[in-house]
Amino acid sequence: TDIRISTEAIRRRKAGTPIVCLTAYTYPVARLLDDHVDLLLVGDSVAMVLHGYKTTLGASLEMMIAHGQAVMRGSARACVVVDLPAGTYEASATQAVASARRVIDETGCQAVKLEGGVDMTSQIAAIVAAGIPVMGHIGLQPQSVEKDGGYKIKGRTEEAVAALLRDALAVENAGAFSVVIEGTVEAVAADITRRIAIPTIGIGASGDCDGQILVIDDMVGLTVDRVPKFVKEYADLRSVISHAAETYAAEVRSRTFPGPGHVFSATKSRDDA
Ligand code: KIV
Ligand code: NA
Repeated sequence: TDIRISTEAIRRRKAGTPIVCLTAYTYPVARLLDDHVDLLLVGDSVAMVLHGYKTTLGASLEMMIAHGQAVMRGSARACVVVDLPAGTYEASATQAVASARRVIDETGCQAVKLEGGVDMTSQIAAIVAAGIPVMGHIGLQPQSVEKDGGYKIKGRTEEAVAALLRDALAVENAGAFSVVIEGTVEAVAADITRRIAIPTIGIGASGDCDGQILVIDDMVGLTVDRVPKFVKEYADLRSVISHAAETYAAEVRSRTFPGPGHVFSATKSRDDA
């Protein structure tokens, strides 16, 4: 019996209770988040967040599949979506379907996500026609930052607003079950949310979106580099980890650790591991 939230259930939440989404890349974090979120995204941000690449272009299909498998092992309830990384879907609908199929077959996740609007309609439509649900991603598209000349907020000119709406409608018409809107002027993201029938998931977008997503490491204060303005840090794990390492180092140097409870005697005792 499948107790996971389906992509269809996510789609039905349009204009309802906000859809709670976070990224996850590992088994333990998926375990911790599964009770609290509706959707876990194995984002290609994993390349930057866990692997230290400068952009998401460092992600490969193999990397996404390995992290997708870990997140599936660690979750039972959440809808799990895995990003198609740059270079695995843009060339053709055939390439996109082959990559999406590999991700679904090798991880068992519910859906894939890809970046693009009007320019990716044939890819989205072909993946959906193959029976695989697709989440779209419009506005600021991190896989395009190199050709965009940096992380630029979208929707600040009339032409940009019109292009965003065309992208949103294209993704909807191609059959996506929902769409991420990233780094977009608030009023534009809110307007798109009213104009399309699939849920919008905002990140640096609008509180009026049908759901919100953040990168998990950003929201728990584990990101060591500067975080974008749209991030709210709900915890300070940098300090927690630094303090733990500092205390451990001091205790090793002073021979305080290991203590009597962390070592073994010749006779087996009932609290032995
Ligand atoms: O890769 C990612 O983490 C994402 C989200 C920020 C939407 O695409
Ligand atoms: Na991504």
